[in-house]
Amino acid sequence: MAKNLVEFRHLKTYFYTEAGVVQAVNDVSFSIREGETIGIVGESGCGKSITAMSLMRLIPSPPGKIEAGEILFEGKNLLSLREEEIRIMRSKEFAMIFQEPMSSLNPVLTIGDQIMEPLLEHLYMSKKEARLKAIDLIKQVGIPRAEEIMHSYPHELSGGMRQRVMIAIALSCDPKLLIADEPTTALDVTIQAQILELLKEIKEKRNMSLMLITHDLGVIAEMADYVVVMYAGKVIEEAPVRELFRNPRHPYTKGLLEAKPIIGKRKDRLYTIPGQVPNPIGLGDYCHFSERCEFCMDICREEQPVLKTYESGNKVACWLEEKGGAGS
Ligand SMILES: Nc1ncnc2c1ncn2[C@@H]1O[C@H](COP(=O)(O)OP(=O)(O)O)[C@@H](O)[C@H]1O
Ligand code: SF4
Ligand SMILES: [Mg+2]
Repeated sequence: MAKNLVEFRHLKTYFYTEAGVVQAVNDVSFSIREGETIGIVGESGCGKSITAMSLMRLIPSPPGKIEAGEILFEGKNLLSLREEEIRIMRSKEFAMIFQEPMSSLNPVLTIGDQIMEPLLEHLYMSKKEARLKAIDLIKQVGIPRAEEIMHSYPHELSGGMRQRVMIAIALSCDPKLLIADEPTTALDVTIQAQILELLKEIKEKRNMSLMLITHDLGVIAEMADYVVVMYAGKVIEEAPVRELFRNPRHPYTKGLLEAKPIIGKRKDRLYTIPGQVPNPIGLGDYCHFSERCEFCMDICREEQPVLKTYESGNKVACWLEEKGGAGS
């Protein structure tokens, strides 16, 4: 089995707001293996992006703060590194692409300049080398007329092309991990499929690890080797992708799987789980899914279940499992 590239260990990332302390990521532990695509799934507000931003060390502080835990990258704790060290690692070791590429691209710089920047700054290439490499990267991400695109500005490209440019920038220094946070949510269905296909192809070619964040289990089924399900700042279930789809254990995972795409809705699945994700402020010591759970028992309201490993290989945090899987 491949080695762990990343290990999140008891990560806690909080935001200090006027309304109280937002426990956005609350004691999260999981690993990403070399060459693996890990899917992080959960409804909006469950802490997926903040988990990724903690690894990138891009938590806005204040109001945010990494309270506790470790994030090991090849055994090295990212949380104890100096900003300068992290800045270099951010393109050479790991890189991230976001949902809306326009907000990450600089509107007044050409595509060429933006792809060349990390090559000049982190790989110390000459301008000429960087230019050739940038053209090569544009070709690798499937954009035609690469030389011409070098001189274009972001607003001259379509959403799908901009996302390809973001992927090119992320890949420029050959990272071992690519984090993609809802990379196709803003795109229409055909383009979405093309971008996912590109990510898959690139990941395989480079034997890179991919941390794919999405609220869409359809995307997970297509792409992931292993799945981590988050709810209200915690991991509530994790398993290899086939196991998760064949034999989901946690009522929340089951709910996500039962949610049906609505015909006529452009792309999103509309979740049918009643109720909402609780605001992660001052949540007490009970199952945070209890208000929405049809299997809720007394103990669920009194004590918080912790993530435990079961025979199937799944890790689940649910009292039903502890009682012998009564819910399956
Ligand atoms: N800058 C911030 N200030 C206060 N709360 C925040 C901030 N950023 C995120 N949060 C809160 O942290 C929680 C997790 O957010 P996030 O990781 O973005 O969720 P997801 O990516 O799963 O949709 C949410 O409750 C969100 O409101
Ligand atoms: S611990 Fe109880 S309330 Fe929570 S998901 Fe399991 S059965 Fe439902
Ligand atoms: Mg998010």
